[in-house]
Formats: sequence, structure tokens, C-alpha cells
Amino acid sequence: MNPTLTDKVILITGASAGIGRATAVALAQSEANVVLIARRQERLDMLVDELAAYPGQRLALAGDVGDEAFAQMAVAQTLTTFGRLDVLINNAGLGHRSHLTDMPATDMRRLWDTNVMGLLHFTQAAIPTMKQQGGGHIINISSIISQRPLPHMGLYCASKTAVNFISRALRMELRPYHIRVTVVYPGRTQSEFGNALLGEKGANPTRLARVSADRVAHAIVKAIATGKIEVYITWTDWLFTHGNRLFPRGTDWLVERIAAQRTARHRAN
Ligand SMILES: NC(=O)c1ccc[n+]([C@@H]2O[C@H](COP(=O)([O-])OP(=O)(O)OC[C@H]3O[C@@H](n4cnc5c(N)ncnc54)[C@H](OP(=O)(O)O)[C@@H]3O)[C@@H](O)[C@H]2O)c1
Repeated sequence: MNPTLTDKVILITGASAGIGRATAVALAQSEANVVLIARRQERLDMLVDELAAYPGQRLALAGDVGDEAFAQMAVAQTLTTFGRLDVLINNAGLGHRSHLTDMPATDMRRLWDTNVMGLLHFTQAAIPTMKQQGGGHIINISSIISQRPLPHMGLYCASKTAVNFISRALRMELRPYHIRVTVVYPGRTQSEFGNALLGEKGANPTRLARVSADRVAHAIVKAIATGKIEVYITWTDWLFTHGNRLFPRGTDWLVERIAAQRTARHRAN
């Protein structure tokens, strides 16, 4: 059961699919006013129609999070419509599956612009309003592989490590203004992430279980109510992260096995 968030104004990026879409639904079920951001306008419009069944208002704004002017415009539109912004969820993200040495520079820039610059643009756009209001909450969606890179996903993992470090620095900078910063570390999740990948497309052919986007969404919505600063979705995600710090060689062995399994299954498909 999700907490009640009546009258809260929450902006979420990457709302047209996967974790962002599931979170937008959970927020609407919690009676929040939600600003939905993604590039695909028609997907957002359909979602607005679907969410009309729940209390609260929705605003859909289509654009690229990597565009600083769009981020400023989206926050300005939020204030015009709702008069405040309580929570920013930086969720839009893009992965890749390719050797770093083969990755075209255009793909590298696109990934970084989405995963890191997009988060920074929206955060910078939201902070003056949150300071003026006397508080707010920024939730950044990272990944468990921000803590330990996987082969063929090196730049994605690095972008999520950047998300962690930016979030931790922001948490200290924004504490005097009562603006909380939470980092969420999902593991493998059912979404459109595999289809949107740069490089080799398709689902990751390992046997690792995937959790539902609804489960991640529930953890995100719960973090708004509890103010928890670091959120793991499953105990195995937590174990992977902390085990990696305590037993780096064992984690190397595990990650290499997973990578070998993935390569073998991919060749067989
Ligand atoms: N799925 C997993 O296994 C997993 C695991 C750990 C962390 N994560 C993280 O969770 C977040 C959500 O991923 P997901 O799995 O839900 O992926 P997804 O199903 O592919 O959804 C990605 C969302 O981001 C939006 N987006 C992508 N690039 C954008 C851009 N430049 N500007 C605006 N919106 C953009 C997409 O919408 P448009 O295409 O309409 O713009 C879509 O709504 C990401 O940050 C991802 O790194 C995912």
C-alpha cells in the first residue's frame, strides 16, 4: 500500500515507460499532482488519460532532459500550474551494451547528457524553488551497478557512479535548506531499458531474476514518505553492494561468471 501524498507536487522524468511510468501511476494512486516528463508526447498523453481516474492533477511536458532550457521551462510550467514543487524524481536514463573502445563518441555524449547532465539540469532548475519554499526532496535513480561495473556496460556504470557522488555532495550542500536527497539503487527491473539500449539491443540474456517496475515504484513512493536516503529494492541488491566492498575478489569471480554466461547465451540466441 502506497502512502497518501495529497496536494504534493511531484515532477518525474522518464515517465513514459518502465520504472518512471510505474512510479507515475503509484504517485497518482497516492493522490499526488504529477508532472510527467519524457520525449514521447503521445505516450505521456495516454498516461495522463489513464491517471484521470485518480485524485489530483497531471501535467505532461515532452522534451529531452539533456536540454537545459527544457528543464528550466518544465519547472517554470510546474510553478505556473501548481505554484510549488515538492519532489523531483530524476529517473530518465539510457544504457548501452558495447565495448568502451568501440563506442561512438555521439553515443557516449548522448548517454552522459541523459543520465548525468539531465539530472543536473533538472536539479539546478528545481533548487531555487525548493529553497524559497523552505524545503523539498530530490530522488535520483541510480543502479546497483553504480557500485561495481560490469563489462560492456562501463560508461553506463560510470554515469550512475556520477549520480551517486553528485547526490551525496548535494545532500550535504542542501541540508541547511531542508532539501532531502535520496538515491535509489534498482537491480535488474522489467522495463523497456533493454530495447532502448545504445549498442547491442535486447534483453540481457543472463538468468538473473528481474523485479517488476511496480516494486521499484513502490520503494520510490515510500521514500517520499520516510525520507530514507539510500534505497535498495531487494536484499540481494543490498548484499551485492556491501559484499562487493567486503569481498572484492569474490565479487570479481561472480561478475565474471555472469558476464561469461551472458556472452554464451547471447551467442546461442
Ligand atoms: N531496468 C533496469 O534493469 C534498471 C536497473 C537499474 C537502474 N535503472 C534505471 O532506472 C531508470 C529508468 O529506467 P527503466 O528501466 O524504466 O528504462 P525504460 O523503460 O527504457 O524507461 C526510460 C525512460 O526514460 C525516458 N528517457 C530516456 N532518454 C530520455 C531523454 N533524453 N529525455 C527525456 N526522457 C528520456 C524514456 O522516455 P522517452 O523515450 O519517451 O523519452 C523512458 O520514459 C533509468 O535511470 C535506469 O538507468 C534501470
